[in-house]
Amino acid sequence: MNSYIQKCEFIVSSILEAQTPEDYISSAERLSDFYAQLVTSNEYLTQDNEVAVKGGVALSGLHAAACVDDFFRTVAFIKGVHKAINKLSDDFPTKTINILYAGTGPYATLILPLLPLFDTNRLSVIFLDINAASIESVRNLTDILGLNGYSLDYAIADATTYVIPEHFPVDLVVSETMHYGLTLEPQVAIVKNLSPQMPTHAILIPQEIHIDFGYSFFAYEPFVSKFADIPKGYNKLQPYEYRKIIDRLFTINKELFVNQVNNDSKIVSSFYPLPAEFSNHPDVCIYTGVTILDDIKLTTAESLITNPYCIVSLLNLAGNSHIQLVYDFSDMPKWLYNLQEQ
Ligand SMILES: C[S@@+](CC[C@H](N)C(=O)[O-])C[C@H]1O[C@@H](n2cnc3c(N)ncnc32)[C@H](O)[C@@H]1O
Repeated sequence: MNSYIQKCEFIVSSILEAQTPEDYISSAERLSDFYAQLVTSNEYLTQDNEVAVKGGVALSGLHAAACVDDFFRTVAFIKGVHKAINKLSDDFPTKTINILYAGTGPYATLILPLLPLFDTNRLSVIFLDINAASIESVRNLTDILGLNGYSLDYAIADATTYVIPEHFPVDLVVSETMHYGLTLEPQVAIVKNLSPQMPTHAILIPQEIHIDFGYSFFAYEPFVSKFADIPKGYNKLQPYEYRKIIDRLFTINKELFVNQVNNDSKIVSSFYPLPAEFSNHPDVCIYTGVTILDDIKLTTAESLITNPYCIVSLLNLAGNSHIQLVYDFSDMPKWLYNLQEQ
């Protein structure tokens, strides 16, 4: 057996067995080192290929590769994808499981390490990224690891408009193309395009992204700004004690866009009363929670993708009685608000 594969199997087993924060960190660090050893070319790890699509920015190869170091995210997603493949294998014991991985980056981090755990005839994968260099890197990695016995395909395409081939009825779609507060990156536009193309039995990873809104003191909220902060976010930082969650604004899941009749790229909330007294919670904040699959979740500040996001300070809204929040992903995804005067 190829020694890289043996190493890969060892690392992925340690990820799947990880229970404690220390296990999460050490197993993801091993995976990061493994990739750093295998992918060294500047051609794949360039900063120069960030692409703006309708719906957000596709990160450069270098930044997409660095996502492996968002340790809790990486471990939680790999656990979730593994669980999804096992579930589909149990439900369809004789069928090949067709997987679309939309937004692989240069490492295809969330699927590639799992391949050696499954028989070659069980999985068929389309690796898709908008960056040609990232797809070239993934192709190179599958060669190095000797994974060519699997049915693997490669697509350089925009996942916000991609049409899943008819010969590939998809069972699992994996896409982690998100930034906290669902700003900047095109996760929602990608889900909007791909989910109506998924059969009812198919699984979307992440299964749900919850967006809650509340009033808080943003400066006192847990927030991880670099990878080294993440264990702190997970372990030590507590929610700000006067945080007031007001409502769940929406949940992004496979069902959200299936029956959508209009082509709207906005999600608009109701009007909510603004608090009269807010010295302990002067900011309008958005909280992102990710359910990767069932019980595998990431909550506030466990990962860079679940940091809280501040929309506006209440100090700037004097003279108004109500606020309405608008998530607009028609272009660069962003938060807007409308006000009702007193
Ligand atoms: C946040 S990185 C994640 C990389 C890797 N999947 C991981 O989880 O570590 C997102 C990747 O998705 C790609 N991407 C973003 N938007 C895309 C789009 N509209 N179409 C295709 N790829 C896209 C980016 O180029 C980048 O490689």
